[in-house]
Amino acid sequence: MRNISLNEVIKNRKTVYPREFTGNEIPYETVTDILESALYAPTHRRTEPWFFRVYRNESKEKLCELINKIDDKKYPKIKLNKFIDKVNLSDTVVAVFMKRDKKESVPEWEEIAAVAMSVQNMWLTSYVNNVGSYWSTPSFKDEYAKLLNIDKNEKSLGFFFMGSYKHKIINKVREGIEMKVKWV
Ligand SMILES: Cc1cc2nc3c(=O)[nH]c(=O)nc-3n(C[C@H](O)[C@H](O)[C@H](O)COP(=O)(O)O)c2cc1C
Repeated sequence: MRNISLNEVIKNRKTVYPREFTGNEIPYETVTDILESALYAPTHRRTEPWFFRVYRNESKEKLCELINKIDDKKYPKIKLNKFIDKVNLSDTVVAVFMKRDKKESVPEWEEIAAVAMSVQNMWLTSYVNNVGSYWSTPSFKDEYAKLLNIDKNEKSLGFFFMGSYKHKIINKVREGIEMKVKWV
């Protein structure tokens, strides 16, 4: 595990695309640690609106089978095939979902925000464990969710791809604090 400050982790975390994955296996325990970190995101009224389906090893084929069932008149085959290529290049693909509680105790956007924070937790935990990761939110994610027959209070929020990669620090370009913060 990389031993650096939280600030450095936040600033150096980055998207690593599946084409950059080396194909080396990520230990099961590391994948579990990454998933577990997702569960500690903040959640209004403690609804814990996240849930995940993990595709690894042979079960990646199940994800590809589902994607192959998506109507290619609605979504070009080339796009679906590109997604399948990314699945095959990855060690693990985590499908990310949001589930609202029956009472809809908090607005939907808060639940989506909470799930996004759980994804950020996974992203940061991946980074410190030398795991490359990438959040993909393809336009056909709702079609994928329909094929799973998920409940109407549930929603797909895309896929978190993970793979081993060769780490190098990049110079991340972000607008500075003076552009984004107004001190009042
Ligand atoms: C909600 C969300 C959805 C995203 N969906 C996609 C996506 O569908 N395809 C993609 O290439 N990147 C996607 N990304 C990743 C961004 O492209 C990436 O975070 C951005 O380029 C900044 O790079 P960094 O993660 O290295 O800082 C998504 C990021 C977020 C936060």
